[in-house]
Amino acid sequence: MTSSEAPTAPAPAGQAGARYTGVAMALHWALAGLILVQIGLGWWMNEWVPDHSSAQDSIEGVHISVGLTVLILVAVRIGWRLTHRPPALPTGVAGWERALAGTGHVLFYLLMLALPLTGWAMVSMHAGAPISFWGLSWPRLPGMAQLGAPNPRPLRGLLQLVHTNLLIWVVLANLALHVAGALKHQFDGHPVLSRMWP
Ligand code: HEM
Ligand code: HEM
Repeated sequence: MTSSEAPTAPAPAGQAGARYTGVAMALHWALAGLILVQIGLGWWMNEWVPDHSSAQDSIEGVHISVGLTVLILVAVRIGWRLTHRPPALPTGVAGWERALAGTGHVLFYLLMLALPLTGWAMVSMHAGAPISFWGLSWPRLPGMAQLGAPNPRPLRGLLQLVHTNLLIWVVLANLALHVAGALKHQFDGHPVLSRMWP
């Protein structure tokens, strides 16, 4: 590597058989699975079980613990990504497709942070019992009580809107594009899915 090459930039294009490392794959698929579980749990608790029921409280408890697990794993993944170079895309993938894929990946990293952070901010505004992370006490996001004073409702409402509506639809749209791109390239002679498949 020359001194001008950043260690986290993609490797030179077209290395045949180049694949993501086991750690990168494990983090990718664990987070993809957990995010889909989170969307399912969120919709289930908000749309299908009666409001203020004990079932809703239990599902919300699991949703919060899984969401905070996502936050920890995303921090690990970003640390890993910043210190490890991903394999280069196959030669023949057009410049605009590389740019679109790269933009989608950056957007995913931002969403994977914003989703748990807005959730954490929302529950940090609740007075009363501490936040439970798989039965352990998890701190409130500092400053949320002060930011919401004296009337927390507008800020809580904004966070709820961003968390439960805006970000979810952006993540689903990005996912559709991401999966379509992976499948297109897999079958048009530029295999990428196999690079991320264990
Ligand atoms: C990747 C992470 C996360 C995803 C994908 C996610 C997704 C969702 C979804 C889909 C909903 C329901 C949306 C609807 O009703 O239409 C929801 C609601 C909720 N989420 Fe999350 N969530 C995540 C992380 C978190 C975290 C870390 C917390 C708290 C620490 C949290 C707290 C909540 C709460 C309290 C609600 C109910 C909001 C309300 O009062 O309506 N979420 N989430
Ligand atoms: C919410 C779910 C998902 C998220 C958040 C996500 C996120 C990401 C991110 C951030 C990368 C870039 C990794 C890097 O830094 O280099 C990536 C790569 C990749 N993802 Fe996903 N992904 C998800 C679901 C999926 C699914 C369902 C598929 C299956 C088709 C998939 C297939 C791939 C492939 C093949 C790559 C490697 C692309 C390449 O070769 O450059 N992902 N994903």
